Formats: sequence, structure tokens, C-alpha cells
Amino acid sequence: MTTHTLADQRPRILLIGANGQVGWELRRTLAGLGEVIAASLEGEYGHAIDLMDAAALARLIHDSRPDAVVNAAAYTAVDKAETDRATAQRINADAVGELGVLLATHGIPIIHYSTDFVFSGTLNRPYTENDQPDPLNVYGETKLAGECALLESGAKSLIFRTSWVYGARGANFLLTMLRLFSERDELRVVDDQIGSPTWSRMLAEMTALILYRVLRGELDLEQMGGIYNLTGSGQVSWYGFASAILEASGLDSNLIPIPSSEYPAPARRPLYSVLDNTRFRQIFGLAMPDWRLSLDQCLEHLKPKS
Ligand SMILES: NC(=O)c1ccc[n+]([C@@H]2O[C@H](COP(=O)([O-])OP(=O)(O)OC[C@H]3O[C@@H](n4cnc5c(N)ncnc54)[C@H](OP(=O)(O)O)[C@@H]3O)[C@@H](O)[C@H]2O)c1
Repeated sequence: MTTHTLADQRPRILLIGANGQVGWELRRTLAGLGEVIAASLEGEYGHAIDLMDAAALARLIHDSRPDAVVNAAAYTAVDKAETDRATAQRINADAVGELGVLLATHGIPIIHYSTDFVFSGTLNRPYTENDQPDPLNVYGETKLAGECALLESGAKSLIFRTSWVYGARGANFLLTMLRLFSERDELRVVDDQIGSPTWSRMLAEMTALILYRVLRGELDLEQMGGIYNLTGSGQVSWYGFASAILEASGLDSNLIPIPSSEYPAPARRPLYSVLDNTRFRQIFGLAMPDWRLSLDQCLEHLKPKS
């Protein structure tokens, strides 16, 4: 496999998980960098891949001859993972390690995503990349195992740890709140879990900016690869996030703050999972906007056009 530069030939970028919240945005942001080979579970965009199937993954890499890979696929059903560890482990960890080994052989770079849920949330300051992960739930454990497997594979990799992802499509807090505001007069929302909402589109924009530099050979991933926190700036509770959505949407509902103990769920969640984005900012010279600004822009985008 040969590595093209942007200057000669359009690079081939394999996007795995093209139908997810982030993957869907990546289809657009990566399009300016080269030919995007978009693979999803159901094959909506021309290429089907089931990460449960190791042989199919190897075939996809062989047949698509990518110059770079972005993996936005994951088992993201946090509560379901508690009773389906084997599937979560396969998709979030084993397949990621296999991908790494396949790519390492050919020196193909990969951008992958991980989560704030690798932490238990007991710190009282934002987590840096040097803090020791200690996940509370199966999803966090399998995502952490995926990070380790990719790093150990020897592939040239960037792992962006993100959090509280929302956007124009998929199962996310913003769309759920907008629906519930129009269905219910009163909503009880957890107020003791603090994190950083991240707009899927901003994550996809940042990924494309970084991948552009990787493809141009401007970033040596042997030196600069590894884990980077990459979330919306600032922090808020779910209740605070819901209040901001309510205010910005102009809808009407009575929001009531509750503790996590009043909203029991199968998977435990960290009470404080804010990630410190300093490393990303210092190394790449880019910063994610404040979560409020991104929320306003996302809602603007969601408004029906008159
Ligand atoms: N969502 C969050 O709040 C959040 C927070 C922190 C980190 N992250 C990380 O950010 C990344 C992107 O997440 P997201 O929010 O875009 O997730 P998402 O919307 O759930 O998308 C994940 C995609 O993976 C696909 N997928 C699931 N099982 C698969 C399989 N066996 N083979 C191939 N594809 C499979 C799903 O396909 P189907 O749609 O067909 O099921 C879906 O399109 C993930 O690494 C996630 O762990 C997300």
C-alpha cells in the first residue's frame, strides 16, 4: 500500500462507523481531504462492515487500500453493555486492536475515539491524559481496553477522548430533550453529574483539520500520537445542559433538578468527568468552542428553514 500526499493524488480515507452521530458528520468534513470510503454496519453508504467479524475487517482494509482510517464505530449503549459485555468488548476493544495490527503492518495512520467514561469521576479538577483511568462501567472498561489495544498494536494512532456527544441525528441528549419538552409539562433531570457537552460536528471538524496535517506528513505520529482529550470547552450538569437547551429552543417545560440516586440506571456513571483539553490545544494549536456556543449553533442548524 502506498501513501499519497494531498499534493499528488487524492488520498483514500476509510471511515468506519459512517452512520453514527460523529461518523455522519465526518462523511462531510473528510470529503475535502480525499476520497472517503464510508463503511457502516448496514452499508448505507456503499460499504458494509460488521466489527464482530474479524475476517470482514481484514478484507475491508485490504480491499479499500486506505491511506488513513477514521474509526467512529463503537458499542455506545452504556446501560445495555452491563449485560452484553462480550459484544461491547468485541466492538470497542478486540476489533480496535485488530484494526491497529492490520494498519501497523502498512504504516497507515488511524484516528479513533474514546470516552470520559474511562474515569470514575472522583477528582475535583478536569482529568488530563496522564490521570489513571478507573472506569465504573462495562462500556468504560471496554473503551479503555480499546485504547490500550490500539496503542499496543504499534499503529500510528491518535485517540481523541470525548464526552457527552450530541448533534443533529442519532440517540443523544439534545434530541431527547427537544422531544420531551414538547411531550411533557414537567421533566426531572440529574443535576449532580458534571461534564462537557460536545457537538458531533465540531469533533468532526477538528478531526478533519488534524487528519489534513497527518496526510500532508506534517504530524509525525510516532512522536505526537497517542491520547488527547477533545471535548466542548466549559462544564455543566445534565440539568444545566437541559436548562440551556430549553432556553435556547424557546420551548416551554418545567425542569426539576434531581440527584443521580433518583434516576437509577444499570450502569454507574462518573459524577465528574470533565476532560482537560490543554494538551490538544498546545500540540495542535486548536481549541474547541465553549459548549454554549456550539449548542446555539447546533440549534440554529436544526431550525426548520423558512
Ligand atoms: N455518544 C457519546 O456521548 C460519546 C461520549 C464519549 C465518547 N464517545 C465515542 O465517540 C465515538 C463516536 O460515538 P457516536 O456518539 O457517534 O456513537 P453512535 O452514534 O452510537 O455511533 C456508533 C456507530 O457504530 C456503529 N456500530 C455499532 N456496532 C457496530 C458493529 N458491530 N460494526 C460496525 N459498526 C457498528 C453503529 O451502527 P448502527 O447505528 O447501525 O448501530 C453506529 O453507527 C465512539 O467511539 C464513542 O465511544 C461517544
